[in-house]
Amino acid sequence: MCGIVGYVGDKQAVGFLLEGLSKLEYRGYDSAGIAVYDGQKIRVEKSVGRLASLQDKISGNMPVGTTGIGHTRWATHGRPSDINAHPHTDCSGDFVVVHNGIIENYLTLKEELIERGHAFKSETDTEVVAHLLEEVYNGDFVSSVREVLQRIEGSYSLVFMSRRDPGTLICTKQDNPLVIGIGNGENFIASDIPAIINRTRRTFILNDGELAVVKKDSIKIMNRRGEPVTKKVFEVNWNAEAAEKGGYEHFMLKEINEQPKAVRDTLSQRISKDGQTITLDELKWNADYLKSFNKIYIVACGTAYHAGLVGKFYIEKLARIPVTVDVASEFRYRDPIVDENTLLIVVSQSGETSDTLAALKESKRRGAKTLALTNVVGSSIAREADQVLYTWAGPEIAVASTKAYTTQLILFFVLALYMAQILGTKKPAFIADLIAQLKNVPAQISETLSDVEPIKTFAKRYGFNEDVFYIGRQLDYDVALEGALKLKEISYIHAEAYAAGELKHGTLALIVEGVPVIALATQKSVYEKTLSNIKEVKARDAVVIGIASAGDEELSKYVDHVIHVPVTDELLEPLLAVVPLQLLAYYAAITRGCDVDKPRNLAKSVTVE
Ligand code: G6P
Repeated sequence: MCGIVGYVGDKQAVGFLLEGLSKLEYRGYDSAGIAVYDGQKIRVEKSVGRLASLQDKISGNMPVGTTGIGHTRWATHGRPSDINAHPHTDCSGDFVVVHNGIIENYLTLKEELIERGHAFKSETDTEVVAHLLEEVYNGDFVSSVREVLQRIEGSYSLVFMSRRDPGTLICTKQDNPLVIGIGNGENFIASDIPAIINRTRRTFILNDGELAVVKKDSIKIMNRRGEPVTKKVFEVNWNAEAAEKGGYEHFMLKEINEQPKAVRDTLSQRISKDGQTITLDELKWNADYLKSFNKIYIVACGTAYHAGLVGKFYIEKLARIPVTVDVASEFRYRDPIVDENTLLIVVSQSGETSDTLAALKESKRRGAKTLALTNVVGSSIAREADQVLYTWAGPEIAVASTKAYTTQLILFFVLALYMAQILGTKKPAFIADLIAQLKNVPAQISETLSDVEPIKTFAKRYGFNEDVFYIGRQLDYDVALEGALKLKEISYIHAEAYAAGELKHGTLALIVEGVPVIALATQKSVYEKTLSNIKEVKARDAVVIGIASAGDEELSKYVDHVIHVPVTDELLEPLLAVVPLQLLAYYAAITRGCDVDKPRNLAKSVTVE
């Protein structure tokens, strides 16, 4: 999730590049860079840190020229550093590129290119694109770029500039956004609309596979086959704030809707080409390593802790290793039994939560091996842990975590399958079948997101209740905890989650006529048991909203409303069942007029105890 910009026209490019990047910093801000063609050569300037560091670096000596590209980075491959910042160049410095996304086959390409004599400077996946262009360049910029596109796999939006083809930018996209702003005697390129709306509101929004050749007074767009495409001009009528949120009213809703892509990105490169096995090149564990642990701790806070509960279920079920999950603020003061035979897994979206970091340091001090699951490359937790697995969710801005949670679940699932593979606790065919279902999850989340109207109606109807209860068994219970937290955080409704079988040991006393109960019933192995708990609350006249798998006709006989989610293996149901709960919390908060993205008393990242 990086921000990219491009300019070609009569004015000094640096003006738009810096302005555009400042509007895109919300997409990533660990480093920034620009490249400008000065009539003779391309000057590249980059700097780790926020855009202000780059501005400081070049102030007093601004790059001169009327064609340029720029980038603000959210690191995925390679830590934040000057060298890893974009734009990236080939060996000659004649070709530069900025990229948003992940080039999945970059390691293979890199090896090939090194063999052919290319010298790489950075650790990024993007740099291969510049060298590949140098390698295949045939004197024609467009056909050479098209050749590059045939060789790369993955998701991207890309802008290319070449010293050999002055005054021309080429851009293209696959699974990442890209927009061209149409000016007078100048044109603009950006990953997102906020970058350009100060300059123009007339745009072309590129579709996947389209390639545009952008000069100061022409824009030629072609499809994958190289045939010209006539596009309609899209007039942007959002204001700057709405544009930043991609047209959504809040970052939280935007991030909920980004989940299919976030999950797809997090899975990329982690499944073998034949779809039969999990590949975690970051870890390279073997059976001896795994057998050296007599226990695993998962330690985290808030939503990440809830993801850890699901992680425990996955690891125990698939890899048969005992796991204890703990909140970091408790763990660190409990004198935990941790030694060199312990694997500590910390989970943190930000990678900066102080209690989680302290738990990690303390465990390391006691000899544990440590693994971090985080969303922020180069964060304190990523640097401190022995090993890291990244969720590739892109920056999460809303305080209430959504896409970070689903991608953490994905990482845990992948990790548990990987352990099962190594230890042989599950047969290869069983693993391959789960992987096949895992690959459907992004599309199934999209399907779940397309049916929001009933959720809005429930939110309006029950949004003014004082108390809401969530119940479920097994993984449904873990998801219920996250659903209740979402509602509390942003709508300020008192919400509690209970293991459905535990209700009768106290909580049932609170269930009276009209109290809303959200009942999750996606776990087939305990379905009948959950149903009998649902009957218990219905008998006390609760209003019950059931969450069930598609095709479940039974549940509607016992509850007031049912929200169906697509059918998948029950282990993967949390990834789908959580989506209506996120939306329910969101629309309940809207009903109550709450500040969704900035809930009272809460912070996105808690870096104090
Ligand atoms: C804060 C946020 C939560 C988050 C928790 C842990 O409380 O408001 O949304 O789940 O911190 O954050 P982390 O960055 O460590 O996942």
